Amino acid sequence: MAKKPYYITTPIYYPSGNPHIGHCYTTAACDTIARFRRMQGYDVIFLTGTDEHGQKIEQKAAEAGVTPKEYVDKIVENFKVLWEKMHISYDRYIRTTDDYHVKSVQKIFRTLYDKGYIYKGEYKGKYCTPCESFWTESQLDENGCCPECHREVVEAKEEAYFMKMAPFADRIEKLLTETDYLQPKTRATELVNNFIKPGLEDLCVSRTSFQWGVPVDFDEGHVVYVWVDALSNYISALGYDNDAYNDFDTYWPADLHMVAKDIMRFHAITWPAILMGLDIPLPKHLAVHGWITFNGQKMSKSLGNVVDPFLLSDRYGADAIRYHILREMALGADSSFSNEVMINRINSDLANGLGNLVSRTVAMVTKYFGGTLPQDRQPGEFDDELIAAAEGLKPRLEELLEKTQLNQMLAEIFTVVSRANKYIDETEPWILGRDEANRARLATVLYNLLETIRMITIPLSAFMPETMPKVWEQIGATAAETSYETSGTFGTLPKTVTVHKGEILFPRIDAEKEIDELNALILAQKPKETSEDSDFTPQPLADEITIEDFAKVDLRIAKVTFCEKVKKSKKLLRLELDDGMGGRQVVSGIAPWYTPEDLIGKKIILVANLKPAKLCGVESCGMICAADMPNGDVKVIFPDQALPVGAKIR
Ligand code: MSP
Repeated sequence: MAKKPYYITTPIYYPSGNPHIGHCYTTAACDTIARFRRMQGYDVIFLTGTDEHGQKIEQKAAEAGVTPKEYVDKIVENFKVLWEKMHISYDRYIRTTDDYHVKSVQKIFRTLYDKGYIYKGEYKGKYCTPCESFWTESQLDENGCCPECHREVVEAKEEAYFMKMAPFADRIEKLLTETDYLQPKTRATELVNNFIKPGLEDLCVSRTSFQWGVPVDFDEGHVVYVWVDALSNYISALGYDNDAYNDFDTYWPADLHMVAKDIMRFHAITWPAILMGLDIPLPKHLAVHGWITFNGQKMSKSLGNVVDPFLLSDRYGADAIRYHILREMALGADSSFSNEVMINRINSDLANGLGNLVSRTVAMVTKYFGGTLPQDRQPGEFDDELIAAAEGLKPRLEELLEKTQLNQMLAEIFTVVSRANKYIDETEPWILGRDEANRARLATVLYNLLETIRMITIPLSAFMPETMPKVWEQIGATAAETSYETSGTFGTLPKTVTVHKGEILFPRIDAEKEIDELNALILAQKPKETSEDSDFTPQPLADEITIEDFAKVDLRIAKVTFCEKVKKSKKLLRLELDDGMGGRQVVSGIAPWYTPEDLIGKKIILVANLKPAKLCGVESCGMICAADMPNGDVKVIFPDQALPVGAKIR
C-alpha cells in the first residue's frame, strides 16, 4: 500500500546573522514531528531553507563590502552546519535565490495580476526596514513605531503594486474562527480583532527602492515584496510553477506549517489570501509558538543576547539541547532560556531520570544473570501498574502530536520514566538478588524494566535521535523490536534477551563549575562581536572624584512591580518600584527600547537619593541605570536577579 504523504515546513530563515537557539526551536520541533511521522509510516517531506532577499540583506552586504549573494552564501553554510550538528533530517532545503524558486514567484505574481487581484498604485506610508513590513499610520504603535518590533519606521512613497485583500476577508475569518487551521486556536481572536474586523487593507506587494529581490518580469524596476517571495517557497519547493520538482499534487496541501508568533499574521492572513487568489487549497494546520527569550526579551543579534547553539551542542550534545528546548516551550507561550535551568534539567531528567534507569537496569541484568535473562517468570505486585503506564503512552502521545504539543509529549514520556524508577524502588531487585529462590521474580522485574525502556525510547527517538539507538544497543533490542507499531505492546523483547553494558548516556554535569565556565565563555565571545560590529568610541572620562563624592550617590537594587507608558510621550515609561523602603515611582526615557512587559518583575539599579523631578508632568523619584549603545540605543542594566531589593551598591 502506498504510504500516506505528510508535508511539514519550518519558516525559511533570514541569513542576516548566524543562527541562534531561537531558530533551533522551530527547526528541532519540525524535525521531531517529521521523524515521528516517518516512524508512523508516512511518506514525509520536511522542508526548511533560507529567505535571502530584501533590503536588510542588501544593506548588510553593502556594509560588509560584498555582494548580497556572497553575503548570504556564507551564512547559509553556517545554517547547514548547525542543522547537521543538531541532527535535523530535512528532506529539502530551499533558498529563495534558487533559480526555480525565482521563476515560480514571477509566475505567481503574474497569475495574481492577470486575475485582477494585483493592481498598480502608489505607496505612501511607513516602512519598518528590520521587519520588511509596510504599515499604515493607524497600525503604528503609540510611539509611532513599528507595531511588531517597536523600532522606528521610515517614510516611504513609491509606485507599487498592491494586492486586493477584501475578496478574501470573509473566507480568512472563517478559516481562523471556524476551522482548526490555527493551533492554538486562542490566537484567532487577536488576529480577527486587530486585522480583519477593522477591514483588511490591500497589501503592497512590490518595491522599487532597492534591487535585491525577485524582479517583477513585466515591469522593470519593481521587485516582489519579500513576504510574497518568501511565502511562495512552500509551494515552489514542491515544483509549483517550475520544473525542478514534481511533487505538488502529492504533497500539497501542507499538513503543518510551524512558525513563531511574530510571523503568525503573514501565515494566517497573507498566505491564505495568496493561495485563495491562486485557487489552491489551503494548508491543513498552522502551529504558532512563542519565543525563546533571554532576560525577558526575544533573542536577537542586535540586542546582543543570542544563545549560541554551536557552543551548547558541543558541550552537552545536540540531543540534550533538543530535549531542553522542546521540553521548556509550551505551544503558544514564551519560554525563557537560562543556562541554570538547562543544566538542572539535563541532570535531573536525562542523567538521573532516563540515564540512571537504563544504566541501573542493564547493570542488574549483567550482575545477576550474566547479561542474559532466564526463561522463568513470576509476576508480582506493582507490575500491572507499570505495564499499564507503558502501554498507555502510545495513544496519549498520538493525541498530543495532533495538537503539536511536543512539551506535553515529553512530559508524558518522563512520567513513565519516573514510574519505572519508582518501580525499582518498590520491587527492590537488590534484595531479590540475595536469594536464589527469587530468581524468577527478579527476572520478571528486570524484563518489565527493559520492556518499559524499549517502549519509552521508541517515541523518544524522534526527539533525541542520536542517543536512543545507543539505548537499544544496551537493552539488546533489534530494529524489529524498536519499530513504531511495537511501541504500544508490552512483551516484544524475547524472554531471554541479552543486554550489553555501554557508555554513560548523559554524563552528570557539575552545575556550579559548568555555569561559571559557560558564563566565562559567553563573556569571552561578546567583546569580539561588539568590537567587530561597531566603531564604538567611549565618551570622554568625566572629572576625577573622591570615594566620598561617590558615596554620596545612593545606588540600590529595586524591583519593577508595575510599568506603563506615559501618555502623550513617545519616550517615557512610568515605573513603580519596590525599593525595600516602601516603594516609589520613577519616570524613565526608555520607551523606544523597552515595553512595560520587558521590565515588570525585573530587578534594576536605582539612583535612590536623586532629587525628585517632574517629567511630562509626572513625578520621578530617582533614576534607573542604563548604558548607551554605540548605535544610540539604550540598555537598562539588569543586575543579578538574586540580589534582594533595597541592597546597597558600592
Ligand atoms: N524570513 C522570515 C520567515 C519567512 S517564512 C515564509 C523570518 N525569518 S527569521 O529568521 O527572522 O525568523 C524565522 C523564525 O524563527 C520565525 O518564526 C521567528 O519568529 C523564529 N524565531 C526567531 N527568534 C526566535 C526566538 N528567540 N524564539 C523562537 N523563535 C524565534 O521571519
